[in-house]
Amino acid sequence: MAIRLGDTAPDFTAETTEGTIRFHEWKGDAWAVLFSHPKDFTPVCTTELGYVAKIRPEFEKRNTKVIGLSVDPLGAHHEWAKDIEETQGMAPNFPMIADADHKVADLYDMIHPNASDTMTVRTVFVIGPDNKVKLTLTYPASTGRNFDELLRVIDSLQLTSSHSVATPANWKDGEDVIIAPALTDDEAKAKFTKGFQTLKPYLRVTPQPNK
Ligand code: BEZ
Repeated sequence: MAIRLGDTAPDFTAETTEGTIRFHEWKGDAWAVLFSHPKDFTPVCTTELGYVAKIRPEFEKRNTKVIGLSVDPLGAHHEWAKDIEETQGMAPNFPMIADADHKVADLYDMIHPNASDTMTVRTVFVIGPDNKVKLTLTYPASTGRNFDELLRVIDSLQLTSSHSVATPANWKDGEDVIIAPALTDDEAKAKFTKGFQTLKPYLRVTPQPNK
């Protein structure tokens, strides 16, 4: 059964490049990104893992832990890390789950048999401090993900989880946001002291409240 937004992210115990991890315990009350890779020693995955290693400080700034997965054994992950460092300038600096028995892949429905019986597709799960799934993404093996977009989405998820706002198309941190339609104008006036513009009764725009 597919994992849907708002579901509790299933807990698991897995061997990783940083030792045995019990997922919920490892995650604690931080945010987490769990992302899968089709296979070790493949080109697109190599570029993805090197890039995530480079921008790991950006995830840390957002109190977000990162954990990767592919359905290959631990020895292969360690060997591959050397290639990633050689070609991308950085080896993965976050745990990589060795899911050779597909335990976690099956738990998270990461294998889509009409795409491949054996490899995971490129899934991303963003999980909140409450262990609930806040975002899912699924890409095919042939398309590398945009991890800058993932950071942008995390900014939106974190902002909207603590303020009564939503973020418009292509929003970036620091730009104006939309006041949640559930708030009355009086409630909005009290909450958004920088003021707001009413373009339509359902479309009210205000400066980002936590800036
Ligand atoms: C890749 O990472 O390049 C890749 C992996 C599996 C299938 C196709 C491409």
